Amino acid sequence: MNAYLGIDIGTSGTKVLAIDAQGKVLSVASREYPCYAPKPLWSEQDPEDWWQAVLAAVPEAVAKAGLSGCDVKGIGLSGQMHGSVFLDRQDKVIRPAILWNDQRTAAECQEIEQAVGGRDKLIELVANPAMSGFTAPKIVWLRNNEPENFDKVAKVLLPKDEIRRRLTGEYATEVSDASGTLLLDVAHRRWSQETLSALGLDSSLLPTVYESEDTTGKLSASAAEALGLTTDCIVVGGAGDCAAGAVGNGIVRPGVTSTSLGTSGVVFVHSDELKYDKAGRIHTFCHAVRGKWHMMGVTLSAAGSLQWFRNALCQELWQRAKEQGRDIYELLTAEASQTRQGADGLFFLPYLSGERTPHADPYARGAFIGLTLAHDRRHMARAILEGVVYSLRDSVEIFRSLNVPISEIRASGGGAKSAFWRQMQADMFGSPVTTLNSEEGPAYGVALLATVGAGEYNNIEEACDATISRKSQTEPNQEAQTYYDQAFPVYQRLYQALKEEFRAIAQLP
Ligand code: XUL
Repeated sequence: MNAYLGIDIGTSGTKVLAIDAQGKVLSVASREYPCYAPKPLWSEQDPEDWWQAVLAAVPEAVAKAGLSGCDVKGIGLSGQMHGSVFLDRQDKVIRPAILWNDQRTAAECQEIEQAVGGRDKLIELVANPAMSGFTAPKIVWLRNNEPENFDKVAKVLLPKDEIRRRLTGEYATEVSDASGTLLLDVAHRRWSQETLSALGLDSSLLPTVYESEDTTGKLSASAAEALGLTTDCIVVGGAGDCAAGAVGNGIVRPGVTSTSLGTSGVVFVHSDELKYDKAGRIHTFCHAVRGKWHMMGVTLSAAGSLQWFRNALCQELWQRAKEQGRDIYELLTAEASQTRQGADGLFFLPYLSGERTPHADPYARGAFIGLTLAHDRRHMARAILEGVVYSLRDSVEIFRSLNVPISEIRASGGGAKSAFWRQMQADMFGSPVTTLNSEEGPAYGVALLATVGAGEYNNIEEACDATISRKSQTEPNQEAQTYYDQAFPVYQRLYQALKEEFRAIAQLP
């Protein structure tokens, strides 16, 4: 039998998925690992943890699916975007990887825009303004702050591409993830020499760029042995987790939008042409569909906000979930559903890691606003769920203002499992929200790209048509929609009112 693996190097863990050539999910395995915040605004991980997770989860997924190693014909890689893995000449990792939600590079973002001749010029070169989570600011930060480490750097790889190097020995990436470096000429799908020269960076630092369904190499003998697979197994380009998740949702043609509620929250649209927001509020990246692009808005703490609430303030609920053998998120959303829409006037701004869309602001902070003696944990849980969806609505509204039609929204990510949170999305966006037969997100999308790379389908559109179908549809509730239409402008004004105070808080000793 021909089987394919999708490997997603996520922020909270790595997920491995095995599918057959018809796209049927055969098995899933995963491993978690920590994320470190050695200073406020910093976010780092050890690439060795990702690799150990791959070494454990791949054989488990293969065994669970009842496959033998030679059945696995191809692997697709996905992962958290923008992270920087700095390698020396011997391919040793020089320092912990700096992640997508790290906010240390505000000064470097300004430096980059100045170096290329201004923000507008940068958008012209790489289709996006400098955002603190992107990769180029991290490279410049290393040069400015850890020159002894910078001098050792021979290659900079994105998280999933570091795993590719360990699997195949190749330095390679693909267009969708490379778009998030701020160094890709997104229009022409190649590194931007002009940007590299303006920043004084050598192009030899960067890997070769492929399209997502192209083969970038085969498993090396040592990787094949470690994973129990064969050296005939190809590794295709794959995609950054946003584009990969969108492929897994069948967003490979114009018209349908997807939202994803993972650690971060993403609103994603496909585009046949290169289009960008002149104000730079949303990202324009190459899509994992050959020769196509996508636009997206990213909110940094989506399900991550709920995870924070669970960890910081819900000890007793943890205990109850354990005793009842239930998922704590189920208990939390059940509690939230006991309150009315609007949580009796309580708002939550989900800017726990700063924000990207629509406010590219590393200093933004989370906030509960409107607390009264009548509020309890249930209202706080509801306010968090609502705050996250309001932040996605900010992106939806930007797309609407760019005349992108939004007739259906496909919900995915851990947050889409909650019917309550899906209904809230339908009510707040005023659009039907659907779910699909494939719920495995980015890992599924890149496993499909591997089937295309191996020749099972002619292209990714064909693979999606053959494998993906709708499972459920949630219609907006008129009364709730009317309420949220009134409350949304209040939510929007709260950030504006607090913006300067967030900055002042960040500057306190
Ligand atoms: C996308 C982004 C996040 C990470 C999370 O621009 O930064 O969605 O990819 O994994």
